[in-house]
Amino acid sequence: MELSNFSSFLFILSLFSVLQTSTIATKKPYIVYLGSHSHGSSPSSLDLQLVTKSHYDLLGSVLGSKEIAKEAIFYSYNRYINGFAAMLNEKQAADLARIPNVISVFENKERQLHTTRSWDFLGLETQGVPSDSIWNVTRFGKDAIIANIDTGVWPESKSFSDEGYGPVPSRWLGSCRSGADPNFHCNRKLIGARFFNLANGPLNGSLNSPRDHQGHGTHTLSTAGGNFVSGANVFGYANGTAKGGSPRARVASYKVCWEAEGGGCFDVDILAAFEAAIGDGVDVISASLGAIPSDFLDDGLSIGAFHAVQHGIVVVCSAGNLGPDPTSVSNVSPWMLTVGASTIDREFTNFIVLGNNKKLKGASLSSKALTDDKFYPLINAVDAKANNVPELAAEVCDEGTLDPTKLNGKIVVCVVGVIARVTKGYLAAQAGAVGMILVNDEESGNEIKADPHIIPASHVTYNDSITISQYISSTRTPMAYISSVTAKLGVTPAPTVARFSGRGPSIIEESILKPDIIAPGVNIIAAYPDGIPLANLPVDDRRGPFMVYSGTSMSCPHVSGIVGLLKTLNPKWSPAAIKSAIMTTAKTRDSSLHPIVDLDGVIATPLAYGAGHVHPNSAMDPGLVYDITIDDYLNFLCSRGYNATQMKKFSNNTFVCNKSFKVTDLNYPSISVADLKTGPVTINRKVKNVGSPGKYVARVTSPLEVSIVVEPSTLQFSAMDEEKSFRVVLQRSGKGNQQGYVFGTLEWSDGKHSVRSPIAFNLGK
Ligand SMILES: *[C@@H]1O[C@H](CO)[C@@H](O)[C@H](O)[C@H]1NC(C)=O
Ligand SMILES: *[C@@H]1O[C@H](CO)[C@@H](O)[C@H](O)[C@H]1NC(C)=O
Ligand SMILES: *[C@@H]1O[C@H](CO)[C@@H](O)[C@H](O)[C@H]1NC(C)=O
Ligand SMILES: *[C@@H]1O[C@H](CO)[C@@H](O)[C@H](O)[C@H]1NC(C)=O
Ligand SMILES: *[C@@H]1O[C@H](CO)[C@@H](O)[C@H](O)[C@H]1NC(C)=O
Ligand SMILES: *[C@@H]1O[C@H](CO)[C@@H](O)[C@H](O)[C@H]1NC(C)=O
Ligand SMILES: *[C@@H]1O[C@H](CO)[C@@H](O)[C@H](O)[C@H]1NC(C)=O
Repeated sequence: MELSNFSSFLFILSLFSVLQTSTIATKKPYIVYLGSHSHGSSPSSLDLQLVTKSHYDLLGSVLGSKEIAKEAIFYSYNRYINGFAAMLNEKQAADLARIPNVISVFENKERQLHTTRSWDFLGLETQGVPSDSIWNVTRFGKDAIIANIDTGVWPESKSFSDEGYGPVPSRWLGSCRSGADPNFHCNRKLIGARFFNLANGPLNGSLNSPRDHQGHGTHTLSTAGGNFVSGANVFGYANGTAKGGSPRARVASYKVCWEAEGGGCFDVDILAAFEAAIGDGVDVISASLGAIPSDFLDDGLSIGAFHAVQHGIVVVCSAGNLGPDPTSVSNVSPWMLTVGASTIDREFTNFIVLGNNKKLKGASLSSKALTDDKFYPLINAVDAKANNVPELAAEVCDEGTLDPTKLNGKIVVCVVGVIARVTKGYLAAQAGAVGMILVNDEESGNEIKADPHIIPASHVTYNDSITISQYISSTRTPMAYISSVTAKLGVTPAPTVARFSGRGPSIIEESILKPDIIAPGVNIIAAYPDGIPLANLPVDDRRGPFMVYSGTSMSCPHVSGIVGLLKTLNPKWSPAAIKSAIMTTAKTRDSSLHPIVDLDGVIATPLAYGAGHVHPNSAMDPGLVYDITIDDYLNFLCSRGYNATQMKKFSNNTFVCNKSFKVTDLNYPSISVADLKTGPVTINRKVKNVGSPGKYVARVTSPLEVSIVVEPSTLQFSAMDEEKSFRVVLQRSGKGNQQGYVFGTLEWSDGKHSVRSPIAFNLGK
């Protein structure tokens, strides 16, 4: 979701919880994690009761009695994930962490939520649907089941209409829990809905349902699996047919984020949602939310994802919107498919014409245009400030800072920051402005956003802000005009890496390159609840069934939809195999075949885009895949120092750590070497043939500083599913003088398939 709207909302929430915790002294919600269950994947109700009882017993041993423990526990995860959520003080949490059966104890973490041109841009519908497109081959992802862990869903949206759908697939075991909302109904398209809110304060009863009162979940779910809806547009712009990545999939919504007072998205509820989704029989879980990452088994989202993957479910997560700085990527577990955001070739633009006839291009999705084709007086917000208001507050057009007598009938210039961009336009209009120019400060640079302003408005770059301020100070009667908005197609270059997209390396494990992939995440049109304000401002009386959003929240469900297609095509493939197919077929060149660029036209690196930009039509036929088993993940955890005894908890006590397994040996479809001092460093990998028999030849590109040798350098496959191992030996070449990260590639090719992996090396200082 748009970062700025939500962060102000979160700020209010955190104040609220400070007040709340002081009244209950030192107790806080914690998650106590115990690994997997020894019962199988279809436990009896007795099995479940026994597990919950064992949770009471375990906690009782620390709290003094089972009764007190019962009181303290508010979630017992007894089906797939083994653990519980309880109110504890710090000492109790520390005591629990020392018990040998306990894998981890961590505080309940809050997460932030991190919109259809994009499918055409991804090559799915050029000239209709070409017969060799993945949409045609998979019949639009027919009957894949896609789950979304988010803010719920607006069930009346046409994107979830079940017209033309057959019976719900029999493997679906979920249900539709409408809660307190009598109007909430599922159907043969939206086959399930649940809500989880025990982490949140008492909720207003009528809000206690899976309904999306915020827009984010409806948008993301429809991007992943929304049905075809013609005549989709926002304020009339970009009219076309909306659809998700798997338009014929079935979808299910798991609401964990709450917009009410005391609301938010919390780990305890997220774990409960994963438990439910695993049991319901979904194929894909899409989670467009996250937080600063914690270690793999101290992180609710990471643990939930692990158990889902253990049950064959692909988990797709957003890379977060904290870019462009390094280490800003979130959701970094190797079992997740982590998606960064790219731009597409469409933008929503308008023009500002200054009194001196200078024309500047801005971004906007204003629903209104200036009524007259004429110039209006232009004023800096500071020059329209009310008495006794600090300049810094007026500059950003904060509430109560603008004086209507100075502003009336003018176009006001507001600087970004402090409050939401759309709110600025609202406040400016309240104070009598006829239009708004939103200017970036130096730090925000060139990133401009098309927002659904309620007044004629345009957002311009920092450079253009300088032009505007120079013009204003050059004349006694500054004037300007703002044109109406147009949706422009064919923008180049595209894709590019979105500024806000979370960048690697991972702060948890540098040997796992993150993000894994990028996908469209800027100005995405998708479904929106038509019963709530379009701009999420209470005063906004505009309603509509579609909205434009930007964020990695939008790129994540694009990939979830593509996973749905691949699941339809290859129901037996493991989550790792599907992820590998998506990564090794990604593109590192843009639509003009130039290298994909990052900020300011600089060539992007794998730390920004992972394996590259998703390319669904190639992902259908990857040739080879890098597969990973659960034991591989456990070996990976052992190699990072997780206790071997505890790792047995995931495998009925049968698992033994492979002592020679190194962190870099996880059979990941990309390679990252955290510290390449001299070498040689040997990386083990294996590839599985999922295409026709044939001979694959390795080709590497290496940076000057590193030599890369692949042994063997040819692999002959004679059968389907045959797996072959190889080694990649890396060492410093003695040449070059680059420091920090440098990059290479490994590509296996049989002349038809190109199985490409990025290699990242940190050379240090
Ligand atoms: C663990 O072993 C039990 C008894 O042998 C078996 O029923 C169960 O399916 C196994 N569980 C797992 C997760 O492998
Ligand atoms: C694992 O942890 C348990 C309990 O903390 C301890 O008794 C055991 O020695 C540890 N095992 C290893 C291999 O470190
Ligand atoms: C797929 O393409 C074939 C050949 O062009 C066509 O006959 C068929 O109707 C298409 N299927 C779908 C689902 O579009
Ligand atoms: C609960 O929410 C509904 C709908 O937003 C509202 O009409 C009602 O007044 C609220 N009730 C309370 C107790 O806040
Ligand atoms: C959008 O396109 C449809 C035809 O697909 C048309 O009926 C409708 O009037 C258009 N709406 C707008 C706002 O342009
Ligand atoms: C912004 O202005 C600076 C200084 O004039 C210039 O170096 C830079 O290239 C400009 N950036 C853009 C995106 O126009
Ligand atoms: C242990 O891991 C190493 C390194 O990946 C691998 O070469 C070896 O085959 C593994 N041993 C077993 C028993 O799986």
